[in-house]
Amino acid sequence: FVVDKGNHRHFMEKEIYEQPEVISHALSNYVDFHGHTVKPVDAAIDFKSLRGLAVSACGTAYLSGLVGKYWFEHYARLPVEIDVASEFRYREMPLYKDQAALFISQSGETADTLASLRYCHEQGLKIGAIVNVKESTIARESDAIFPILAGPEIGVASTKAFTCQLAVLASLAIAAGKARGTVSPEEEKQLVKSLSEMPRIMSQVLNSIQPQMESLARDLSKFKDVLYLGRGTSFPLAMEGALKLKEISYIHAEGYAAGELKHGPIALIDENMPVIVIAPYDRFFEKTVSNMQEVAARGGRIIFITDEKGAAASKLETMATIVLPNVAEIISPMVFALPIQLLAYHTAVFMGTDVDQPRNLAKSVTVE
Ligand code: G6P
Repeated sequence: FVVDKGNHRHFMEKEIYEQPEVISHALSNYVDFHGHTVKPVDAAIDFKSLRGLAVSACGTAYLSGLVGKYWFEHYARLPVEIDVASEFRYREMPLYKDQAALFISQSGETADTLASLRYCHEQGLKIGAIVNVKESTIARESDAIFPILAGPEIGVASTKAFTCQLAVLASLAIAAGKARGTVSPEEEKQLVKSLSEMPRIMSQVLNSIQPQMESLARDLSKFKDVLYLGRGTSFPLAMEGALKLKEISYIHAEGYAAGELKHGPIALIDENMPVIVIAPYDRFFEKTVSNMQEVAARGGRIIFITDEKGAAASKLETMATIVLPNVAEIISPMVFALPIQLLAYHTAVFMGTDVDQPRNLAKSVTVE
């Protein structure tokens, strides 16, 4: 990897557009593209005999872990306990030796994540690390290293590391399901096929949505607050969308579980706070649409990020609708991450902030 911006204005933009390539590289370490099977997982983590998984991370890595929780529980029926590392390290969480611990970190040096790792190590748990920097402290102190192979990430706001973490987590969840007998050989084949289609679909999306994201960013830059909503794996994605926007554009943004709307944020809805709804046409779609109706009924402006089936099924008036291709459920978080990243990026560019070096933020936080 050559670390320069190439033809891009910012590292962040370059890293967004690199995703199809790096994700394909990341996946090739975990799945067999021809045989449509997952590769065997490092024997230090024996998914078959585990009673549960404890996961800890910070920032964007924490949000990829939250998506991973849905996958491990759904595909492998493996209970996941997850927390931000700054809480995890002090919670004095009771842990059992037949749990394994998983730490997700781009840099592999985040102080709170490392402290959580050491806590789990003292409790006698096997440690797995999903890292980008293989020579990092977190990698060195782990029993099994799961590299995300994203190449150097320079932009402070994480993009390609996020989707590569997701690709690794998806592969591990399938491998765990296979080991535990909850994913049949036929399902494994289908899931891996879907994963292998992802780089092509991501390129197609990146090539088609940019003009719409740019013009939407111009509108978004006029607002002071933005709410993101999603259900299922789209909930952590909503939080990641809000995180990206606030980090680089300094617009206040919050990500909420769509079903929690009525327990608080609905009080804020008016024409001054756009609501970005992330809703692929999955098993949660109808529920999310009914939350969208609640927003529309209160004069809220909706930016609807959906797929072709979702766009056809919803009749609501929106400020904008972003239509992605219909994709398999397992890859939708990675595909839906793209408009979220581009929207934050173009909003920040439009507002003239320092996109790659946002104020007060550091790429790697090695102090508590
Ligand atoms: C900082 C960075 C984020 C990153 C987080 C965790 O806050 O600005 O982009 O997600 O640290 O970093 P890590 O290297 O552990 O993934």
